[in-house]
Amino acid sequence: MRKNIVAGNWKMNNDLAETQELLSHLKMQLVKEPKADVYVAPSYISLFSAFESLKGTAIEVAAQNMHFAEKGAYTGEISAKMLKSVGVKTVILGHSERRAYFNETDELLAKKVDAALENEMTVIFCFGEELKDRKADQHFEVVKNQLENGLFHISKDACKNVILAYEPVWAIGTGETASPEQAQEIHAYVRKMLTEKFGETIAQDVSILYGGSVKPDNAKDIFGKEDVDGGLIGGASLNAVDFLAIVNSFE
Ligand code: 13P
Repeated sequence: MRKNIVAGNWKMNNDLAETQELLSHLKMQLVKEPKADVYVAPSYISLFSAFESLKGTAIEVAAQNMHFAEKGAYTGEISAKMLKSVGVKTVILGHSERRAYFNETDELLAKKVDAALENEMTVIFCFGEELKDRKADQHFEVVKNQLENGLFHISKDACKNVILAYEPVWAIGTGETASPEQAQEIHAYVRKMLTEKFGETIAQDVSILYGGSVKPDNAKDIFGKEDVDGGLIGGASLNAVDFLAIVNSFE
């Protein structure tokens, strides 16, 4: 059966000291047996210290990005092998901010997905439509293309290392969430796509997270929907009380 997952994407926030402070609050306050797997994704420079300080806890560390190449002349980039060398086994790929501000295309993302999976990492693969797409009633089409072109070339076997995250761009950092019904509608659509592509068993096992202005006061309603298996949290993951309230909002 698929897992409940709550992941905090810290984006470009928190230096080393701030990272340690937030992690120490999370460690102290996380309940003994959380009803969800918990991930935090600090910036690259804090990954090693985050991994060290979270050893022996139920919190996993993820990276926010990586390069597809194994190594070489890619100034400023980080490889899967480098991430693994500091204990990081999970990577967020395809975030809309990377697609929009760093020109990450489906084609590039497909290469990153391959590199991560070849290195036995778990991929949190993000997708979601912009406001103009939803207004034009193109949201299903956009989501379908992003998944088909960036992810669905992988093998059935590799699906066990994939977590999906539906993040409608218009709901990110805006305070405007998709309604639980809007989230469920897309999640059910994506699960149907998974069924058609990889079969029913795999489709039922892949966790599909929702991201976009998830807060303690709306998490329960969103996570209560059949095909929503947790959240990818931005702003609210920077506050230990709020993030843990979201982690604790599963029934
Ligand atoms: P917010 O929760 O701040 O809307 O961000 C969502 C997000 O982009 C997580 O990756």
